[in-house]
Amino acid sequence: MPSTYELLEARLQSAFDALQPGSDPVLRPSDRSDYQANGVMGLAKALGRPPREVADELVASLDLAGLATVEVAGPGFLNLSLTPAFLGQQLNELVANERLNVPVSPNAKTIVIDYSAPNVAKEMHVGHLRSTVIGDALARINRFMGHTVIARNHVGDWGTPFGMLIEHLIDLGEDAAVQSLSMGDLDTFYRAARQKFDSDDTFKERSRARVVLLQGGDTETNRLWRLLVTQSVAYFQEVYDKLDVLLQPSDVVGESFYNPMLDDVVTDLKSAGLLVESDGAQVVFLPGFTNRENEPLPLIVQKSDEGFGYAATDLAAVRDRVGNLHADEILYVVGAPQAQHFDMVWAAARAAGWLPEAVRIEHVAFGNVLGPDRKMFKTRSGETVKLVGLIDEATERALAQLQARQSDMSADEQAALALTLARAAVKYADLSTERQKDYVFDLDRMLAFEGDTGPYLAYAHARIRSIFRRLNEPFLGDNVSWTLSDPAARHLALGLLALPEALDATLNTLQPHRLCTYLFDLAQRFTTFYEACPVLSAEDSLRDERLALCDVSARTLSLGLSLLGIDAPERM
Ligand code: ARG
Repeated sequence: MPSTYELLEARLQSAFDALQPGSDPVLRPSDRSDYQANGVMGLAKALGRPPREVADELVASLDLAGLATVEVAGPGFLNLSLTPAFLGQQLNELVANERLNVPVSPNAKTIVIDYSAPNVAKEMHVGHLRSTVIGDALARINRFMGHTVIARNHVGDWGTPFGMLIEHLIDLGEDAAVQSLSMGDLDTFYRAARQKFDSDDTFKERSRARVVLLQGGDTETNRLWRLLVTQSVAYFQEVYDKLDVLLQPSDVVGESFYNPMLDDVVTDLKSAGLLVESDGAQVVFLPGFTNRENEPLPLIVQKSDEGFGYAATDLAAVRDRVGNLHADEILYVVGAPQAQHFDMVWAAARAAGWLPEAVRIEHVAFGNVLGPDRKMFKTRSGETVKLVGLIDEATERALAQLQARQSDMSADEQAALALTLARAAVKYADLSTERQKDYVFDLDRMLAFEGDTGPYLAYAHARIRSIFRRLNEPFLGDNVSWTLSDPAARHLALGLLALPEALDATLNTLQPHRLCTYLFDLAQRFTTFYEACPVLSAEDSLRDERLALCDVSARTLSLGLSLLGIDAPERM
């Protein structure tokens, strides 16, 4: 079922095509009419004719088949107003449609999303929060559109630091080490290992020898390594559950997974003539990549000590994702500083023939989370802020907010709601900023019930649901005769029809804030409507119409929030 927008656009497109094939009507929802086509100017320019004249000609040939009426405005805009019959029909479909008229994508794709990716025996920091939350939203939206999403949690579980981590584990004793790691005390563990490594030469030697054993496949070393990984992954899962994201232990496909493929990466790059030796390392030089001194920048595949690095693993991962998982699209939700790394890895993969042009591959880059001082978010003593700590603090504050108000909720209900609100606050604050931008982590702002926040939207939803509790009879919404005589009602109705476009825009740009902006705008439209149009006290058909708008508004908020990974409770 095409959306309202798509139906109109198809009509306009044929009129535009008749004058100039492939020209773009640039149709947008508009506050002046219902929709506005802004493409006339571009078309007129291409044809070398006055815009008004072209607009008139378009209007004459435009077959809107009763969907809308059209008027030329200004220098040549086409203003479209939906006919009452068509608008009513679209709205009735919306009321009856579980997917709120969002079509399942006609070409289902396999989409690999690489996100979260914390490092074993290291604390998850706010950067991993961003990756986790953005990746989760993109996974949910894509799945809703009918795509197959394969989550790849590219956990850092391999490399030279594991020598010192294993030796430290041996020093501590397995039980004590496991105890410390399972409490999520990853940073203390890592730092203690690092400190010994830096200050104690015997420890350093042991660590080096241990790396060799690890890479050589020594059984006991492997068992100890596995212990570190298992403990960390279990701890990460606790964080994911606390955040309520979809990631599961089975999505963990860490760097070590690609080990057995690395030799082939080297062999195949070599036979493709792409690998050269530079300072003892095996590297690829790719056109267009230079350092600050304008010298060619190497992508290091194998280091001089024969160890493989981050780039080799990512090359193997691209190959695996295209060759074995048959990805049509691969998304990397990783901080902006890794942009060049990915550009180089993909360029190398392209050169090697492992990454066909048809595969969409994107770095879903994001900015930093800042502290109140607008510097990198750190604790007072300069350490990384623990992710779980943030959620816990948000939950405490939300609970305090709830306890401060009059309500008949039980203590358990309040505690559950506090967690829901904390998740909503933290996730929405992250998702609603343009992802490339930095943002300040400010729990009070995030948790506020006013403004562009998660709790505000959750509350808007619960408030609408409360109308239906007061209704005292089931709402069927099956034979509404729409008049939409109040402008606020019409404005809301048009907003409700625009969900498919909001989701399209979100996936095309990979910007979850597009969906946030849509939902916030919708909640505001609802508020204006609700202030202007009494619902329960309205008469018969007017009441039905208003109830139907309430119903679809609540469902749209609930669906939209759920696609962002946010729960919208029935009551608050
Ligand atoms: N573990 C890395 C980090 O913490 C992120 C990995 C991102 N994914 C990838 N395929 N390189 O920065």
